[in-house]
Amino acid sequence: MIVKEVTSNNTINENDIVLTGDRPTGCLHLGHYIGSLQNRVILQNTVNDKKKCFVFIADVQGLSDNFATPEKVKKNVVEVCKDYLSVGLDPAKSTIFIQSLIPELFELTVYYMNLITVARLERCPTVKAELQTKSFATSVPSGFLNYPVSQAADITAFKSTAIPVGEDQKPVLEISNEIVNRFNNTYNTNVLKECKPILSDVPRLVGIDGLAKASKSLGNAIMLCDDSETLKQKIFSMYTDPNHINVSDPGKVEGNVVFTYLDAFYENKEEIEDLKAQYRKGGLGDVYLKNLLYKILDEKLTPIREKRLLLKEDYIYSVLIEGSKEAREVAKQTLNEVREAIGIVYK
Ligand code: TRP
Repeated sequence: MIVKEVTSNNTINENDIVLTGDRPTGCLHLGHYIGSLQNRVILQNTVNDKKKCFVFIADVQGLSDNFATPEKVKKNVVEVCKDYLSVGLDPAKSTIFIQSLIPELFELTVYYMNLITVARLERCPTVKAELQTKSFATSVPSGFLNYPVSQAADITAFKSTAIPVGEDQKPVLEISNEIVNRFNNTYNTNVLKECKPILSDVPRLVGIDGLAKASKSLGNAIMLCDDSETLKQKIFSMYTDPNHINVSDPGKVEGNVVFTYLDAFYENKEEIEDLKAQYRKGGLGDVYLKNLLYKILDEKLTPIREKRLLLKEDYIYSVLIEGSKEAREVAKQTLNEVREAIGIVYK
């Protein structure tokens, strides 16, 4: 059996089917890149079979917390797909599709809703945390509460077993596995497969303000499509050590966002250690470090940005529609097996 290490402690084998998706609620940023996109490109190239590697844009899930602004969701389907292709996801190696074009997913969702309690969904830490940031905190739409169930449908429809996600999605995958076991036990079958998360080595990237996780809505993220000037401005506004006033002052490395980003994106670990030592001692200025970080990130983002500019909307739609057709065939097959397992086939 071929076992390959993708990130530390995360292996996949030749039988694994990889699947992951994003809600199209905004362009993707460096947090997505380091936390998930980079990993997906490695996985795509490791698996090297588009029938075993699915990446999709979860527009229906996106509506669960943006139902009143569908135009925002639709616009971002294209933007997210541009981000995918510009970082190196390749429609020849991954099946890239749109969730709403696979209606089978929503029938599966309905069957799975019977297998999990409302109380269990309310206890899910991911759902709880998200609810705190939403305006509907005191009056939760059932669609939002149910999104882990719909996610179980996304995962199982493709019999996927390896799911590259951020740490925060782990509890959602646990719910998916509970549904799988409940289904298989209830209907005495083994049609559905359990999955495992593939976590990145850098699960969370702090925002440039140093206060919270990088996020587009908080305006503290460096977007993959930011131009060079915006990138520079964002880096120069990064939180460092407020007590490091003069270059000669000793500075703090912990919690200093410039160092967090250098740790995440700069390959030269030895130089980082030297810079940290100098900074702690005093004599190293923030401007020097910010210029260094700018150079590193601009080098990383320039090819991504350039590729993005070449991608036209027509092409993006053709990729998504073709991918969705292929994905739908797989989901149809699973739905047939599920109906058969339940015993509701009429002919
Ligand atoms: N919940 C994911 C997000 O917040 C998107 C998603 C939907 C997903 N279905 C999935 C991720 C299935 C992995 C597997 O972006």
